[in-house]
Amino acid sequence: MGGWMNIALLGCDALTVESAARLGNTPCGVSVHPGDNPPMRILLLTHAYNSLTQCIDAALRAQGHDTSVEFDINDAVTEEAVTLYQPDLVVAPYLRRAIPKSVWSQHICLIVHPGIEGDRGPSALDWAITLQVAQWGVTVLQAEADMDAGPVWASERFDLRQASKGSVYRHEVTQAATRCVLLAVQRFAASRTTASNPASVAWTPQRPASTQWQPLMKQPERAIDWQRDESATVLRKIRAADGFPGVADHLFDQPCHLFDAWPEDTLRGAPGAVIVQRETALCRATVDGAVWIGHVKRAGSIKLPATLAFARECEDVPELPLPDWWRAQGHTWQDIAYDEADGVATLHFEFYNGAMSTHQCERLREALIWAQQRPTTVLVLTGGHDFWSNGIHLNVIEAASIQGGSAADESWRNINAMNDLALELLCNQRQLTIAAVAGNTGAGGCFLARAADLVWLREAVLLNPHYKNMGNLYGSEYWTYSLPRRVGHEGARAIMRNRQPLSAQAAVATGFADACLPGTVAAFQAAVKQQAQNMALAPDIQAQIATKNKAREQAEAAKPLAAYRAEEMEHMRRNFYGFDPSYHVARHHFVYKTLPSWTPRHLARHRDTTGHLA
Ligand code: COA
Repeated sequence: MGGWMNIALLGCDALTVESAARLGNTPCGVSVHPGDNPPMRILLLTHAYNSLTQCIDAALRAQGHDTSVEFDINDAVTEEAVTLYQPDLVVAPYLRRAIPKSVWSQHICLIVHPGIEGDRGPSALDWAITLQVAQWGVTVLQAEADMDAGPVWASERFDLRQASKGSVYRHEVTQAATRCVLLAVQRFAASRTTASNPASVAWTPQRPASTQWQPLMKQPERAIDWQRDESATVLRKIRAADGFPGVADHLFDQPCHLFDAWPEDTLRGAPGAVIVQRETALCRATVDGAVWIGHVKRAGSIKLPATLAFARECEDVPELPLPDWWRAQGHTWQDIAYDEADGVATLHFEFYNGAMSTHQCERLREALIWAQQRPTTVLVLTGGHDFWSNGIHLNVIEAASIQGGSAADESWRNINAMNDLALELLCNQRQLTIAAVAGNTGAGGCFLARAADLVWLREAVLLNPHYKNMGNLYGSEYWTYSLPRRVGHEGARAIMRNRQPLSAQAAVATGFADACLPGTVAAFQAAVKQQAQNMALAPDIQAQIATKNKAREQAEAAKPLAAYRAEEMEHMRRNFYGFDPSYHVARHHFVYKTLPSWTPRHLARHRDTTGHLA
């Protein structure tokens, strides 16, 4: 244990201290100044506890406010939540319908709109990406009878990156929205303070000079004309609809929705034709080149890797594997890539939505084994841009049952493949390993990261290092070994029981992670590279590796990793094959995106009758 901790400190003590001093209190990468405002009771009314809502919740709590969450189920439930909680303010980070008048006429309700001031309508980001605007933004406005037309409490603009709607939402929108909500809350508090203290300065929200209603973007406006649209247009259309609703199209003469588009520089074919496949993706020709389609949703089915969704049809499509793990030159589809410089090996894995199927885990393990043999002393695992990992691939598991197989068997295979991957990392004896987490990570993904010697987080990321939300899943990935070593047994129990997201800073503070670095994904990756190279050049690097190996040896002697795995998998066997179907039911609802019919009690603190959540 001591050796292990020494490694963590040797590796990044200076980094942690320096970063922490520079960062101050910045949950989700947004500066928070506790004590600026008197604490308030803030009800978060939302369609789901998605990452944006989690960030806003974390930031408000860091500022000292009391928050509680209610899902937007129906008007009566919303009214009940307001009656129970008696909030000072209602904040709606992510809603799909209007707040009832009975609520907004009695309480100030602040709506987060992912658009610039004056923009109105339900497809804000879809239009911004489609129309290729240079800048976009977020507005926090007050709910009124007309949708998105109320007075503005805060707004912010950002440069619109060429990326999918989901990616812009998870990065630029989330950061801007969190800052705007904090500012709006501060302004709201100032106006309340003014009422009791007329000497202070009130802040009055202003209506935008003009507004423009942009209607819901429908499929005809998204449609791809394969005989006319150039690759850039195809990419833009799919990105404007990704993760939802996708672009309605046909593949192999079957209706489906397209997602997860990647550029291709060199391949050519008849426009619209599927020309090759590579692992999970299909390459389709356009008038001036080709694009890769990573995921599709067939009519009546769920979103799946393209080559799985059309497995039978793909039998006739030629395969075009990449020759090696090394980063491809130019643009093409590549989910696992390796590069090496100055004694540092870097393994990238860009899996859509951070979900890792059995086969993806096996391929990543193969790449990891290869990378671990390279002549480097430091190995960095970067994960993907938006997600590092979200654990086993629930959609692919569900697909097993759709196709007449067993979801339980596929779950078992997938968790074993995740465990094999984690084990490879835990047992690396030749390098110091670093999980460099630039995007959010959840469930088993967190413990795959924790299998590395060091976990460095981008300050804006959120972790959900727990499993129970998925039908009381026990979880594996050696978490019973790695978590208590970092946070103690009681800390581990609390993390698993409370099922709360951890901001990067909180993760470092609890000991779950080792360091927290600011900036965009690119800035974070550059800083990680620099720090990793410094580590590789350190004169005592071999001594550090020897220390970690000694610590691992001692831990193995005390209790073998195989024993941890066997215990965890005994619980997982019951989750997958036992009498209680909760995991299968929860997974089914998750992948089919069933609308919730109640708010989980660990979020709806106003409904807590035990007093545990106070
Ligand atoms: N398998 C398949 N798809 C997954 C996934 C997984 N393990 N985790 C996330 N996704 C998908 C979601 O369905 C969603 O799909 P969409 O593109 O069709 O909308 C997308 O990834 C983004 O997820 P979302 O929930 O919107 O992201 P978030 O950042 O708000 O929340 C999590 C992140 C991790 C809290 C949440 O996605 C989650 O609970 N995932 C399940 C984790 C899990 O239980 N894994 C299995 C146990 S190891």
